[in-house]
Amino acid sequence: MKVNHILNSAQFDRAGLDYLYHLTNGIRRLDKSKEGLDYLRRLLGHKRAMLYFTQPSTRTFLSFDSACHILGICTSHIRDPQTSSERKGESIEDSLRTFSSYVDVIVMRTPVSGLCEKIAALLDETPRPVPIINAGSGPDEHPTQALLDIYTLGRSFHKIGGIDGKSIVMVGDLKRGRTIRSLCGLLCHYQGMTINLVSPEEFRLDPLVIQKLRNSGAKVVESDDLQAALKDADAIYMTRVQDEYDIAGESRLLKNYQRFHLRKSHLAEIKDTCIIMHPFPRRDELDIAIDTDPRAKYWRQERNGMWTRVALLTQLLGADQHIMLPEL
Ligand code: NCD
Repeated sequence: MKVNHILNSAQFDRAGLDYLYHLTNGIRRLDKSKEGLDYLRRLLGHKRAMLYFTQPSTRTFLSFDSACHILGICTSHIRDPQTSSERKGESIEDSLRTFSSYVDVIVMRTPVSGLCEKIAALLDETPRPVPIINAGSGPDEHPTQALLDIYTLGRSFHKIGGIDGKSIVMVGDLKRGRTIRSLCGLLCHYQGMTINLVSPEEFRLDPLVIQKLRNSGAKVVESDDLQAALKDADAIYMTRVQDEYDIAGESRLLKNYQRFHLRKSHLAEIKDTCIIMHPFPRRDELDIAIDTDPRAKYWRQERNGMWTRVALLTQLLGADQHIMLPEL
Protein backbone atom coordinates (compact mmCIF):
# COMPACT_ATOMS: atom_id res chain seq x y z
CA MET A 1 0.00 0.00 0.00
CA LYS A 2 1.41 3.40 -0.96
CA VAL A 3 0.82 6.32 1.41
CA ASN A 4 2.27 9.76 0.61
CA HIS A 5 1.66 11.74 3.79
CA ILE A 6 -0.04 11.03 7.10
CA LEU A 7 -2.16 14.09 7.75
CA ASN A 8 -5.50 13.12 9.22
CA SER A 9 -7.68 10.17 10.14
CA ALA A 10 -9.96 10.66 7.11
CA GLN A 11 -7.32 9.26 4.77
CA PHE A 12 -7.54 5.75 6.28
CA ASP A 13 -10.02 3.04 5.36
CA ARG A 14 -10.68 -0.34 6.93
CA ALA A 15 -8.33 -2.21 4.61
CA GLY A 16 -5.55 0.25 5.43
CA LEU A 17 -6.17 -0.10 9.17
CA ASP A 18 -6.18 -3.90 9.01
CA TYR A 19 -2.99 -3.88 6.95
CA LEU A 20 -1.24 -1.60 9.45
CA TYR A 21 -2.32 -3.89 12.29
CA HIS A 22 -0.78 -6.93 10.64
CA LEU A 23 2.31 -5.02 9.57
CA THR A 24 2.86 -3.85 13.17
CA ASN A 25 2.50 -7.43 14.39
CA GLY A 26 5.03 -8.55 11.77
CA ILE A 27 7.47 -5.92 12.99
CA ARG A 28 6.99 -6.83 16.63
CA ARG A 29 7.91 -10.41 15.81
CA LEU A 30 11.30 -9.16 14.61
CA ASP A 31 11.82 -7.46 17.98
CA LYS A 32 12.12 -10.89 19.58
CA SER A 33 15.70 -11.56 18.40
CA LYS A 34 18.97 -9.76 17.72
CA GLU A 35 18.80 -11.00 14.11
CA GLY A 36 15.33 -9.50 13.75
CA LEU A 37 16.40 -6.16 15.20
CA ASP A 38 19.53 -6.09 13.01
CA TYR A 39 17.31 -6.77 10.00
CA LEU A 40 15.04 -3.85 10.94
CA ARG A 41 18.01 -1.53 11.48
CA ARG A 42 19.30 -2.21 7.97
CA LEU A 43 15.93 -1.59 6.32
CA LEU A 44 16.09 2.21 6.16
CA GLY A 45 19.68 2.99 7.14
CA HIS A 46 19.97 5.16 4.02
CA LYS A 47 17.17 7.54 5.12
CA ARG A 48 17.05 10.67 7.29
CA ALA A 49 14.15 12.18 9.24
CA MET A 50 13.43 15.63 10.67
CA LEU A 51 11.45 15.80 13.90
CA TYR A 52 10.02 19.30 14.07
CA PHE A 53 8.07 19.55 17.34
CA THR A 54 7.17 23.09 18.34
CA GLN A 55 4.57 22.00 20.91
CA PRO A 56 5.45 20.05 24.06
CA SER A 57 5.71 16.30 23.59
CA THR A 58 7.17 13.36 25.46
CA ARG A 59 5.70 10.14 24.07
CA THR A 60 5.09 11.13 20.47
CA PHE A 61 8.54 12.67 20.11
CA LEU A 62 10.42 9.86 21.83
CA SER A 63 8.50 7.10 20.16
CA PHE A 64 9.07 8.59 16.69
CA ASP A 65 12.75 9.10 17.50
CA SER A 66 13.01 5.51 18.77
CA ALA A 67 11.06 4.18 15.79
CA CYS A 68 13.55 5.91 13.46
CA HIS A 69 16.48 4.41 15.37
CA ILE A 70 14.96 0.93 15.18
CA LEU A 71 14.88 1.31 11.38
CA GLY A 72 18.37 2.82 11.14
CA ILE A 73 16.98 6.25 10.15
CA CYS A 74 19.14 9.21 11.33
CA THR A 75 17.13 11.97 13.00
CA SER A 76 17.52 15.75 13.31
CA HIS A 77 15.40 17.67 15.79
CA ILE A 78 13.93 21.11 16.27
CA ARG A 79 11.84 21.50 19.38
CA ASP A 80 11.97 25.25 19.86
CA PRO A 81 11.47 27.62 16.90
CA GLN A 82 13.39 30.24 18.88
CA THR A 83 16.57 28.31 18.06
CA SER A 84 15.94 28.24 14.29
CA SER A 85 15.70 30.94 11.65
CA GLU A 86 12.02 31.44 12.46
CA ARG A 87 13.49 33.65 15.20
CA LYS A 88 14.99 35.79 12.41
CA GLY A 89 11.63 36.13 10.73
CA GLU A 90 11.77 33.15 8.38
CA SER A 91 8.30 31.89 7.48
CA ILE A 92 7.28 28.44 8.61
CA GLU A 93 6.83 27.51 4.94
CA ASP A 94 10.44 28.42 4.15
CA SER A 95 11.69 26.60 7.25
CA LEU A 96 9.91 23.39 6.33
CA ARG A 97 10.95 23.57 2.71
CA THR A 98 14.52 23.91 3.98
CA PHE A 99 14.18 20.73 6.06
CA SER A 100 12.96 18.93 2.96
CA SER A 101 16.32 19.67 1.33
CA TYR A 102 18.13 17.59 3.94
CA VAL A 103 15.82 14.74 4.94
CA ASP A 104 13.49 12.08 3.50
CA VAL A 105 10.55 12.52 5.88
CA ILE A 106 9.35 15.31 8.21
CA VAL A 107 7.44 14.50 11.38
CA MET A 108 5.81 17.64 12.72
CA ARG A 109 3.85 18.72 15.77
CA THR A 110 2.43 22.20 15.74
CA PRO A 111 -0.13 24.26 17.67
CA VAL A 112 -1.64 25.39 14.35
CA SER A 113 -4.67 23.46 13.05
CA GLY A 114 -4.39 22.53 9.38
CA LEU A 115 -0.71 23.47 9.07
CA CYS A 116 0.47 19.94 8.22
CA GLU A 117 -1.94 19.74 5.27
CA LYS A 118 -0.80 23.13 4.07
CA ILE A 119 2.90 22.21 4.22
CA ALA A 120 2.27 18.84 2.54
CA ALA A 121 0.46 20.58 -0.34
CA LEU A 122 3.28 23.09 -0.62
CA LEU A 123 5.99 20.42 -0.70
CA ASP A 124 4.03 18.41 -3.27
CA GLU A 125 4.55 21.32 -5.67
CA THR A 126 8.33 21.27 -5.22
CA PRO A 127 10.90 19.07 -7.00
CA ARG A 128 11.66 17.29 -3.68
CA PRO A 129 8.29 16.46 -2.10
CA VAL A 130 9.13 14.56 1.11
CA PRO A 131 6.35 12.95 3.15
CA ILE A 132 4.87 14.86 6.11
CA ILE A 133 3.64 13.04 9.19
CA ASN A 134 1.22 14.96 11.40
CA ALA A 135 2.27 14.26 14.99
CA GLY A 136 -0.44 16.55 16.40
CA SER A 137 -1.83 19.73 14.86
CA GLY A 138 -3.44 22.01 17.44
CA PRO A 139 -6.80 20.77 18.68
CA ASP A 140 -7.79 19.24 15.33
CA GLU A 141 -5.96 15.97 14.58
CA HIS A 142 -3.44 13.46 15.92
CA PRO A 143 -3.72 10.62 13.42
CA THR A 144 -0.73 8.52 14.53
CA GLN A 145 -2.08 8.47 18.10
CA ALA A 146 -5.41 7.24 16.74
CA LEU A 147 -3.62 4.52 14.76
CA LEU A 148 -1.79 3.29 17.85
CA ASP A 149 -5.05 3.42 19.78
CA ILE A 150 -6.71 1.25 17.12
CA TYR A 151 -3.75 -1.14 17.34
CA THR A 152 -4.13 -1.29 21.14
CA LEU A 153 -7.88 -1.93 20.86
CA GLY A 154 -7.28 -4.61 18.20
CA ARG A 155 -4.63 -6.41 20.26
CA SER A 156 -6.72 -6.27 23.41
CA PHE A 157 -9.84 -7.62 21.69
CA HIS A 158 -8.28 -10.13 19.33
CA LYS A 159 -9.61 -13.07 21.33
CA ILE A 160 -13.07 -11.56 21.73
CA GLY A 161 -14.02 -10.76 18.15
CA GLY A 162 -11.90 -7.69 17.44
CA ILE A 163 -13.04 -4.08 17.59
CA ASP A 164 -16.36 -4.51 15.72
CA GLY A 165 -19.42 -4.39 17.95
CA LYS A 166 -17.62 -3.00 20.98
CA SER A 167 -18.70 -0.21 23.29
CA ILE A 168 -16.14 2.55 23.82
CA VAL A 169 -16.52 5.19 26.52
CA MET A 170 -14.60 8.42 25.91
CA VAL A 171 -14.20 10.75 28.85
CA GLY A 172 -12.99 14.32 29.42
CA ASP A 173 -12.37 17.35 27.24
CA LEU A 174 -13.84 15.91 24.07
CA LYS A 175 -14.10 19.32 22.44
CA ARG A 176 -10.40 20.13 22.29
CA GLY A 177 -8.85 16.68 22.60
CA ARG A 178 -7.33 15.92 19.20
CA THR A 179 -6.75 12.26 20.07
CA ILE A 180 -10.51 11.84 20.49
CA ARG A 181 -11.34 13.51 17.18
CA SER A 182 -8.87 11.37 15.27
CA LEU A 183 -9.85 8.15 17.02
CA CYS A 184 -13.54 8.77 16.30
CA GLY A 185 -12.60 9.24 12.64
CA LEU A 186 -11.04 5.78 12.57
CA LEU A 187 -13.76 4.07 14.62
CA CYS A 188 -16.18 4.95 11.79
CA HIS A 189 -14.67 2.00 9.90
CA TYR A 190 -15.85 -0.60 12.42
CA GLN A 191 -19.29 -2.23 12.47
CA GLY A 192 -21.86 -2.09 15.26
CA MET A 193 -19.97 0.31 17.51
CA THR A 194 -21.40 2.09 20.52
CA ILE A 195 -19.60 5.30 21.41
CA ASN A 196 -20.41 6.76 24.79
CA LEU A 197 -19.22 10.36 25.07
CA VAL A 198 -18.92 11.52 28.67
CA SER A 199 -17.94 15.14 29.18
CA PRO A 200 -18.97 18.37 30.86
CA GLU A 201 -21.54 20.29 28.83
CA GLU A 202 -18.84 22.88 27.94
CA PHE A 203 -16.50 20.28 26.44
CA ARG A 204 -18.76 18.21 24.20
CA LEU A 205 -17.43 16.62 21.04
CA ASP A 206 -17.81 18.56 17.78
CA PRO A 207 -21.27 17.75 16.32
CA LEU A 208 -19.69 17.13 12.91
CA VAL A 209 -17.57 14.32 14.34
CA ILE A 210 -20.66 12.87 16.05
CA GLN A 211 -22.57 13.05 12.78
CA LYS A 212 -19.80 11.20 10.99
CA LEU A 213 -19.91 8.44 13.62
CA ARG A 214 -23.70 8.19 13.31
CA ASN A 215 -23.50 8.10 9.51
CA SER A 216 -21.13 5.14 9.84
CA GLY A 217 -23.83 3.26 11.76
CA ALA A 218 -22.39 3.76 15.25
CA LYS A 219 -24.72 4.36 18.16
CA VAL A 220 -23.56 7.56 19.87
CA VAL A 221 -24.68 8.54 23.36
CA GLU A 222 -23.72 11.85 24.99
CA SER A 223 -23.90 12.32 28.75
CA ASP A 224 -22.17 13.73 31.79
CA ASP A 225 -22.62 10.56 33.84
CA LEU A 226 -19.41 8.53 33.99
CA GLN A 227 -20.77 6.12 36.56
CA ALA A 228 -23.69 5.07 34.35
CA ALA A 229 -21.45 4.57 31.31
CA LEU A 230 -18.99 2.20 32.94
CA LYS A 231 -20.97 -1.02 33.31
CA ASP A 232 -21.21 -1.98 29.62
CA ALA A 233 -17.89 -0.53 28.48
CA ASP A 234 -15.39 -2.64 26.54
CA ALA A 235 -12.89 0.22 26.63
CA ILE A 236 -12.69 3.40 28.68
CA TYR A 237 -10.60 6.11 27.01
CA MET A 238 -9.69 8.82 29.52
CA THR A 239 -8.36 12.27 28.55
CA ARG A 240 -7.14 15.36 30.38
CA VAL A 241 -8.49 18.91 30.18
CA GLN A 242 -6.72 20.66 27.28
CA ASP A 243 -6.25 23.95 29.11
CA GLU A 244 -3.47 25.12 26.80
CA TYR A 245 -6.27 26.04 24.37
CA ASP A 246 -8.18 28.18 26.89
CA ILE A 247 -9.11 31.59 25.54
CA ALA A 248 -11.02 32.98 28.51
CA GLY A 249 -10.13 30.62 31.39
CA GLU A 250 -12.72 27.98 30.30
CA SER A 251 -10.99 25.23 32.27
CA ARG A 252 -10.86 27.21 35.50
CA LEU A 253 -14.59 27.87 35.26
CA LEU A 254 -15.39 24.13 35.22
CA LYS A 255 -17.32 23.03 38.28
CA ASN A 256 -17.09 19.58 39.79
CA TYR A 257 -14.67 18.14 37.27
CA GLN A 258 -13.98 15.30 39.74
CA ARG A 259 -17.12 13.68 38.29
CA PHE A 260 -15.00 12.86 35.24
CA HIS A 261 -12.21 11.18 37.19
CA LEU A 262 -11.72 7.42 37.03
CA ARG A 263 -11.00 6.07 40.50
CA LYS A 264 -9.91 2.75 41.89
CA SER A 265 -13.39 2.29 43.36
CA HIS A 266 -14.79 2.23 39.80
CA LEU A 267 -12.84 -0.93 38.98
CA ALA A 268 -15.40 -3.13 40.72
CA GLU A 269 -18.06 -1.88 38.30
CA ILE A 270 -16.35 -2.55 34.98
CA LYS A 271 -16.18 -5.81 33.02
CA ASP A 272 -13.21 -8.15 33.44
CA THR A 273 -12.46 -7.76 29.73
CA CYS A 274 -12.79 -3.96 29.71
CA ILE A 275 -9.56 -2.08 29.00
CA ILE A 276 -8.57 1.35 30.29
CA MET A 277 -6.68 3.66 27.94
CA HIS A 278 -5.24 7.17 28.12
CA PRO A 279 -3.06 8.94 25.53
CA PHE A 280 -1.16 10.62 28.38
CA PRO A 281 -0.03 12.88 29.96
CA ARG A 282 -2.48 12.28 32.76
CA ARG A 283 -3.44 14.43 35.65
CA ASP A 284 -5.95 13.61 38.37
CA GLU A 285 -8.52 12.19 35.96
CA LEU A 286 -6.87 8.76 36.12
CA ASP A 287 -5.98 7.49 39.58
CA ILE A 288 -2.45 6.03 39.77
CA ALA A 289 -3.87 3.31 42.03
CA ILE A 290 -5.42 1.83 38.84
CA ASP A 291 -1.99 1.23 37.26
CA THR A 292 -1.55 -2.24 38.75
CA ASP A 293 -4.93 -3.49 37.52
CA PRO A 294 -4.50 -5.85 34.53
CA ARG A 295 -7.16 -3.89 32.65
CA ALA A 296 -5.00 -0.75 32.67
CA LYS A 297 -3.46 -0.75 29.18
CA TYR A 298 -2.00 2.76 28.97
CA TRP A 299 1.62 1.77 29.49
CA ARG A 300 1.30 -0.89 26.82
CA GLN A 301 -0.50 1.67 24.63
CA GLU A 302 2.58 3.88 24.94
CA ARG A 303 4.89 1.12 23.71
CA ASN A 304 2.43 0.15 20.98
CA GLY A 305 2.91 3.73 19.79
CA MET A 306 6.54 3.07 19.01
CA TRP A 307 5.78 -0.11 17.01
CA THR A 308 2.89 1.49 15.15
CA ARG A 309 5.21 4.35 14.16
CA VAL A 310 7.87 1.88 12.98
CA ALA A 311 5.19 0.32 10.78
CA LEU A 312 4.06 3.69 9.44
CA LEU A 313 7.61 4.72 8.57
CA THR A 314 8.25 1.49 6.68
CA GLN A 315 5.05 2.10 4.74
CA LEU A 316 5.79 5.75 3.96
CA LEU A 317 9.37 5.06 2.92
CA GLY A 318 8.47 2.00 0.85
CA ALA A 319 10.05 -0.75 2.98
CA ASP A 320 6.90 -2.47 4.21
CA GLN A 321 7.11 -5.16 1.53
CA HIS A 322 10.25 -6.42 3.27
CA ILE A 323 8.28 -7.27 6.42
CA MET A 324 6.73 -10.69 6.52
CA LEU A 325 3.13 -10.47 7.69
CA PRO A 326 2.01 -13.04 10.27
CA GLU A 327 -0.28 -15.84 8.99
CA LEU A 328 -3.87 -14.59 9.06
C1 NCD B 1 -1.86 13.83 23.49
C2 NCD B 1 -1.66 15.06 22.60
O1 NCD B 1 -0.58 15.61 22.52
O2 NCD B 1 -2.67 15.40 21.98
N1 NCD B 1 -0.65 13.29 23.94
C3 NCD B 1 0.05 12.42 23.16
O3 NCD B 1 0.43 12.71 22.05
N2 NCD B 1 0.26 11.18 23.63
C4 NCD B 1 -2.85 14.03 24.56
C5 NCD B 1 -2.73 15.20 25.49
O4 NCD B 1 -1.79 15.99 25.41
O5 NCD B 1 -3.62 15.32 26.32
